[in-house]
Amino acid sequence: MSSLRPYRPEDHELLQARESVFDDFGPHAVNPERSSRLDDDGGLVVSLDGDGPARGEVTWHWVQWGPTAASRCPMIGIYLRPEARGRGLGVRAQRELVDLFFRHTVTNRVEAHTDIENVAEQRALERAGFQREGLVRGAHWRGGAYRDGYLYGVLRSDWTLAEVEPETEPKTELETWSTDDD
Ligand SMILES: CC(C)(COP(=O)(O)OP(=O)(O)OC[C@H]1O[C@@H](n2cnc3c(N)ncnc32)[C@H](O)[C@@H]1OP(=O)(O)O)[C@@H](O)C(=O)NCCC(=O)NCCS
Repeated sequence: MSSLRPYRPEDHELLQARESVFDDFGPHAVNPERSSRLDDDGGLVVSLDGDGPARGEVTWHWVQWGPTAASRCPMIGIYLRPEARGRGLGVRAQRELVDLFFRHTVTNRVEAHTDIENVAEQRALERAGFQREGLVRGAHWRGGAYRDGYLYGVLRSDWTLAEVEPETEPKTELETWSTDDD
C-alpha cells in the first residue's frame, strides 16, 4: 500500500510547523491545492496508509541539466512530522516517489540534495536507492548562513520497479503513532 496521496484541505494545519533545523527556510505555508502532477512542480502527502492523517510531505521541482527537455529531472525533498521520524517512513516515502517518477514519466534521473549535517536524510536516501554524487559547496541559505550539501541521484537503469515494495512494515504500529492533533 502506498504511503503517498494528494493534498486535502485538512493537511494544511498538520504540515505548517517546520520543527527541524534542516527544514527551516523561513515562513512556510502549505497550499492544499498544490499540484500532485508528476510532470509539474508539486508534492504529495505522506501518511501511513495513503489515506490517513498527514505525517509529512514529499515535494519536487524540475531542474534541467542540458538544453533540451530530455535533460529535465525532478529534484525531490521531504519533511516528516517529529512523531513520524526514525521509523522507516522517510525511506519508504522517497522510494515510492522515485518509483512513481520512473513509472509515470520518462525521466532518466531523480535527484535530491541535503545538508552535509543531515545524517538522517543521507541515510534515508541511500537506503531508498540513491547514490551520493558529490559535494555542492555553499548550496543553500539556511539559518543565516550558506551551507554545503550533498547531491544524490538515482538513474532509471539503477531502478527495479519491484523495489517499491517496502522491505519491512513500519517499525511501529499505527495506534502508537497517534498524537493529540491527529
Ligand atoms: C530526514 C527524514 C526525512 C528521514 O526520514 P526518517 O523516517 O526519519 O528516517 P528513517 O527512519 O527512514 O531512517 C533512515 C536512516 O536514517 C537513520 N536516522 C534516522 N534518524 C537519524 C538521526 N537523527 N541521526 C542519524 N541517523 C538517523 C536511521 O537509523 C536509518 O538508518 P539505518 O538504515 O542505517 O538504520 C526525517 O527525519 C525528517 O523529515 N526530518 C526533518 C526534515 C528533514 O530533514 N528533511 C530533509 C531535508 S533535505
